Amino acid sequence: MIVLKGIQKIHRPGTPAEFQSLYDIGFEVRAGELAILKGVSGSGKSTLLSIIGALQKPSSGQIKVDGRPIAKLPDMHASAFRAQTIGFIFQAFNLFEEFNVAENVALPLIPTGLPQKEIYTHVDRAMKLANIQHKATQSVRDLSGGEKQRAAIARALVNDAKIILCDEPTANLDRANSDAFIEILGNLKFLGKTVIIATHDPIFEGLNLVDRVISLEAGRITLS
Ligand SMILES: Nc1ncnc2c1ncn2[C@@H]1O[C@H](COP(=O)(O)OP(=O)(O)O)[C@@H](O)[C@H]1O
Ligand SMILES: [Mg+2]
Repeated sequence: MIVLKGIQKIHRPGTPAEFQSLYDIGFEVRAGELAILKGVSGSGKSTLLSIIGALQKPSSGQIKVDGRPIAKLPDMHASAFRAQTIGFIFQAFNLFEEFNVAENVALPLIPTGLPQKEIYTHVDRAMKLANIQHKATQSVRDLSGGEKQRAAIARALVNDAKIILCDEPTANLDRANSDAFIEILGNLKFLGKTVIIATHDPIFEGLNLVDRVISLEAGRITLS
């Protein structure tokens, strides 16, 4: 489902601020697998996730996601690719505080031009999966941290993406909410989603759900 070969990322090439964050990254994540991208802060996890999600392009190397080579995808096609294929869950939830949960979850579907009724069918399904449907009409501003995260998960699921990318999903959660997050991961796995989680949270260590651990150290893959 996700195949990377020789991925390098150099930021601001040719300037005094030039910095290489990824060196010769190669790995594969198969359909339906849950992979952990592990490493301390600054090791390159977020950069790598954003390359997999076609938010950034690698400086060189090849990457195929769901059968599509995306290393050189023009921006216009990259956003269409993301809309169809990828769900993102960020550490900062990136929700609109003044909107309610259902409205936030619906946002990724607005550009699709789907009829409103259909949008709400998708929104309901996603909210149920993320266990936040009971807060559908509540403003995000008034949610707890754990609830905000479940709203963000529902938004990531609303386009029925095959691939879910999570960046430090438990960094702002207490133990109970982290456990609730892991339960939702179980649902995603049951649905056959391919999931990559960038994290250094030890809560993921030794979890049954985890199929693959990719360890990053200063932009390079190390044996874990
Ligand atoms: N746009 C950028 N310009 C310059 N340096 C960057 C940029 N993005 C990331 N970096 C650097 O690349 C390294 C890896 O960053 P990041 O991928 O955010 O790591 P992590 O998510 O593991 O904390 C860091 O040293 C960071 O400062
Ligand atoms: Mg990061």
